[in-house]
Amino acid sequence: MDFSLSEEQLMIQQAAKDFAQTELLPGVIERDDAQTFPNELVKKMGELGFMGMMVDEKYGGSGLGTLSYVLAMEELSKIDASASVMVSVNNSLVCWGLETYGTEEQKQKYLTRLAAGEIIGAFCLSEPEAGSDATSQKTTAIDKGDHYLVNGTKNWITNGGRAEVFLVIAQTDTAKGHKGINALIVEKDMAGFEIGPKENKLGIRGSDTHSLLFNDVKVPKENRIGEDGFGFKFAMKTLAGGRIGIAAQALGIAAGAYEIALKYSKERKAFGTEIANHQAIAFKLADMHTKIQAARNLVYQAACDKDAGNDYTLSGAMAKLYASEVAMETTVEAVQVLGGNGFVKDYHVERLMRDAKITQIYEGTSEIQKIVISRSVLNA
Ligand code: CAA
Repeated sequence: MDFSLSEEQLMIQQAAKDFAQTELLPGVIERDDAQTFPNELVKKMGELGFMGMMVDEKYGGSGLGTLSYVLAMEELSKIDASASVMVSVNNSLVCWGLETYGTEEQKQKYLTRLAAGEIIGAFCLSEPEAGSDATSQKTTAIDKGDHYLVNGTKNWITNGGRAEVFLVIAQTDTAKGHKGINALIVEKDMAGFEIGPKENKLGIRGSDTHSLLFNDVKVPKENRIGEDGFGFKFAMKTLAGGRIGIAAQALGIAAGAYEIALKYSKERKAFGTEIANHQAIAFKLADMHTKIQAARNLVYQAACDKDAGNDYTLSGAMAKLYASEVAMETTVEAVQVLGGNGFVKDYHVERLMRDAKITQIYEGTSEIQKIVISRSVLNA
């Protein structure tokens, strides 16, 4: 596969790199400490076109392909994975889902503002007892003729406290199992909708993660995405693309930690020479470099599959599985290369190590990716 990048793709990569260096790097440690991310930075990402990268320009997006999107995700994630998860959820799960399966009215009403970054969205599938086992939805959306009455709780929702639009997966007809699930667009101001407590997290602490409570929320029928009963398929199809975004995030976290370790190893001296001259360190760098390049190839492959209109469920799952493992391994090794300094916040790698862990968990754990991959391999 030829992954040579076009001039446009190189420009997008550079724009994301510049934004990450000039806007995200200052304050990234403080944001992690305080668990905050300023709305002005989200707004700037919107102005630069990062919030609706793959959305058609007629709906306010940047009209770019998935490969451009993963290039930007990698660069943003090298510096600030809290920022990049907001970008990923808004792009892959919310905008893509609405553009692909929404009605023209839904696109005009919601997508145009989401893609321009005027507002951000959240994707609400997980529940206290439905994480990996996503068909076990307890949130209900009872059909009341012209509207659905939604009740239940959603957990670990990225952008939960600041989103204006929520794509909510809920069970309408229990007897039909996953074929009785619907996807509904819920607005922040709908009566009965409540933002629950904010999570105090190990990593991606600048991103906003909340539980959400639904208490007799009346959602108009025109806010259903797709046909009655399409909600679970909607979630699965949307997550298949979302996993490419998270794979790119994991790749960026790994590459960010590697770049710091490489630079440090050429400056820090021990036993009379730069530590890079010790084979113990040089071999770590060789392993990191090799694994990151392998992960990058898988991420680009999945993005190119999506852009080419090929099935990307398998390649996206492989990219996420492998890139998230590489992110974890690389960040742990980067902390080791930096030694005592690696354990100190000022050097960034301990944060990247904490951020890496979530990439093995959200949008389908590594174990779920192995289910997806093995089913695909066995059914081939
Ligand atoms: N595309 C289209 N349809 C799909 C699909 C896909 N990729 N994967 C499954 N389906 C369909 C199946 O074909 C089946 O439909 P039919 O019966 O009509 O054939 C239906 O969905 C149910 O599928 P399964 O029988 O395979 O269901 P399962 O119970 O065995 O579970 C699973 C499948 C892959 C394990 C799924 O439950 C899963 O992906 N779980 C993980 C959920 C997840 O990723 N959660 C992340 C939360 S979102 C998040 O993290 C966002 C964030 O904020 C960062």
